[in-house]
Amino acid sequence: MSNRFNLFDTESFYDKHASDYEKKRASKGMLFNDYIEAPAVFEEIRSFKRAPRKVLDIGCGVGYYSRNLSYASDEVVALDISSKMIEIARKNCKDNIDDAQFKKISFAHSSFESYHAPSEKYFELVLATFMLSYFDNLDVFFGKVKNVIADNGKLITSMLHPFRLFSTKEEDGYRMHSSYFKSGYYESDFLNKDDTLRLKKWTLSDIANVASKNGFLIENLIEPQPILDIPDMLKEEAKFYYNYPSVLIITLRRK
Ligand SMILES: C[S@@+](CC[C@H](N)C(=O)[O-])C[C@H]1O[C@@H](n2cnc3c(N)ncnc32)[C@H](O)[C@@H]1O
Repeated sequence: MSNRFNLFDTESFYDKHASDYEKKRASKGMLFNDYIEAPAVFEEIRSFKRAPRKVLDIGCGVGYYSRNLSYASDEVVALDISSKMIEIARKNCKDNIDDAQFKKISFAHSSFESYHAPSEKYFELVLATFMLSYFDNLDVFFGKVKNVIADNGKLITSMLHPFRLFSTKEEDGYRMHSSYFKSGYYESDFLNKDDTLRLKKWTLSDIANVASKNGFLIENLIEPQPILDIPDMLKEEAKFYYNYPSVLIITLRRK
């Protein structure tokens, strides 16, 4: 029987599918995450003048970013609403990095909305990758990031590209299926065909306006294409995304 999860059920959805998600990431990797988004996010962080010392990884999932950022940073908080995802993130980090790096990461089982940072303006970098669609209210999201991020701190956030969310993928490209200007939701079946998760669609101006209202400057908009070095089994799927946008990454700075 198929189940429909919504934004109030995110915790139970990820608790239920945490190990499917981990397996998918660990086997061939996921095209959008591992071969389109993450390489561009790391390139962006490497372009910063200096490595961020304190990092918050909102919705850390399997802990991929927390693990990799622990090398260059002094402190990383890996936060996730799902206790199962936190368990997986902790194990992934422990098994793949040495003790000194592992000690820099603390794991927080909490929604971002109810998370208490060690102090106000604590983090130099806040990451919220593939997360913008998990917030029903962008004002709440940006307002909360504003509280936890240092002056001039950076926020890197991403989501499926808005053009993709308002259209259906067809052989010859995208076909718009709903009004771009009408905000709403989309059904994501990326982890399980029977359990869909209802996530939020945002237009570019929705994001820009709320970010600006909360004191953020957009520094960079990145629309990455798949990297060339991808496993053979993903090459066919990747072809389409050399021509059509898949992911939107935004770097913002708190004024
Ligand atoms: C699509 S995954 C993204 C994982 C990771 N950021 C990445 O890019 O690989 C979404 C993750 O966010 C978590 N999540 C969803 N809503 C959340 C919220 N409000 N607060 C904290 N974590 C949340 C989910 O449990 C899940 O692990």
